[in-house]
Amino acid sequence: MKRLAATLVCVLIGAIGLSALDNEQFKVGEDLFKRCIPCHGRFANAKPMGKDKDISRLSETEIAAKLRDYALGRTEGAMAAQSSLLDQDKIEALSVYIANMHVKYGEELFALRCSGCHGKDASKSAFGKSDIVARLTEKEALEILSSYQNGAYAHGSTANVMKGRAIALSDQEVLELARYINSLK
Ligand code: HEC
Ligand code: HEC
Repeated sequence: MKRLAATLVCVLIGAIGLSALDNEQFKVGEDLFKRCIPCHGRFANAKPMGKDKDISRLSETEIAAKLRDYALGRTEGAMAAQSSLLDQDKIEALSVYIANMHVKYGEELFALRCSGCHGKDASKSAFGKSDIVARLTEKEALEILSSYQNGAYAHGSTANVMKGRAIALSDQEVLELARYINSLK
């Protein structure tokens, strides 16, 4: 019994340690990513030097693999110049940051501007009128939010409440919110 308790404590500490490490990596990655912004954009979805490479849609593993290839000099092109700056720790931190920033940013935005009516994690019906937003896919959330913006979506008698909120959002914010909403399933 004692041993079981000790094991449990170890597992718990391990789990806490891991998430703390992730956060730490995220912060390191955020800092490193500053030098990528001129080409890839603040949200990693710009076209770097006109090339059609949206790295914001890659998984953590895919980003790490690509960066490892660059670091090993396996690829030519603009990224080759970045290779000497990339060791294993930096590659991991950058991959964690790029792959997770969208949901994290969307989550913060939602907590700030939306959860007052839609509840924490988008799990409540706003004014008892709206559907549960957490159930929407990214595509549905995107479509609904942009149609509130242009006035096309008139779901119910309270649509004007949402119209004002939606108009206040930038295109990028709408995108990040939709990605966060999608992650809730
Ligand atoms: C000078 C502009 C520039 C900078 C700075 C830059 N990149 Fe790139 N990156 C590119 C270009 C252009 C490509 C497209 C492939 C190529 O031509 O090499 C690319 C490709 C990539 C890819 C692979 C995309 C794919 O699908 O193949 C990843 C991942 C990436 N960059 C991450 C980063 C990270 C992380 C940083 C910061 C450490 C960074 N880049 C800094 C221009 C840049
Ligand atoms: C002041 C309260 C309020 C705030 C704040 C608010 N909403 Fe809403 N939301 C509503 C109401 C009420 C509805 C239902 C409107 C209708 O009848 O069309 C709604 C509907 C929605 C819908 C459509 C769901 C359905 O019923 O089809 C989405 C998606 C949504 N809101 C997202 C958001 C997001 C994202 C934010 C933050 C930027 C936000 N809302 C902020 C009150 C709010």
